[in-house]
Amino acid sequence: MYLIDRTIQFVRGFLLSYGPQEIKRRVWDREYRNNKWYFRDNTIGDCVYPPLENYSRKGSILDLGCGSGNTATEIADSAYASYLGVDISQAALEKASARTKQTGREGKSRFARADFLEWQPSGEQFDVILFRESIYHIPLDRIKATIDRYSIYLKEGGVFIVRLFAANPKTAKIKHRPIAMLRIIEDEFDVIESRRYETKGRPALLVFRPRQRDDVEKAG
Ligand SMILES: C[S@@+](CC[C@H](N)C(=O)[O-])C[C@H]1O[C@@H](n2cnc3c(N)ncnc32)[C@H](O)[C@@H]1O
Repeated sequence: MYLIDRTIQFVRGFLLSYGPQEIKRRVWDREYRNNKWYFRDNTIGDCVYPPLENYSRKGSILDLGCGSGNTATEIADSAYASYLGVDISQAALEKASARTKQTGREGKSRFARADFLEWQPSGEQFDVILFRESIYHIPLDRIKATIDRYSIYLKEGGVFIVRLFAANPKTAKIKHRPIAMLRIIEDEFDVIESRRYETKGRPALLVFRPRQRDDVEKAG
């Protein structure tokens, strides 16, 4: 049974990072429609909120892999002026839009259905670009290129925030792929804040920016 579960998890993980867009969309839609992610409906008090609220500077947030609207509805209303959530799952976005209306935030929040590996913002720039438990779905060898591609959509002084679990919240087993992702970011970007928490699932949080040209030249 253990071996079957592990194999299913491996195939799922592989498809969600490397599979065609249509397969990824179908898997996520089915999981959201089957309420697999209902526990994400309440994440008030999560470690992502203090840095997100601080670095948003009452400005704009781009949330890549936004899911069913927890960040859009739980972040302090006074901390930002506009929010754009992007997700591959239509089912997730329907839920996110409904929750946004319920909380009266539809005036400052928008959602778009797209694969963040390909999607391009239409010219606007953001104070924060967030990957909240969604960076797992970028192939390891595309992490740097994907973040580099989004860098031009950061405002002057803007930051990326990545929040992930470094261990399995149920079994407490360390997850090597997310840790490798943290290492790539630490090696390739200017890290402003790095936090590791010892609570369930060992949440980790990085706030970072693209390297300045001078730093790149020094490093090279
Ligand atoms: C674990 S959920 C996290 C959702 C939300 N950020 C949160 O913290 O609750 C991962 C989300 O990433 C989305 N996702 C995965 N791969 C994606 C891709 N290539 N493009 C856009 N969204 C993607 C999924 O649909 C899902 O909503």
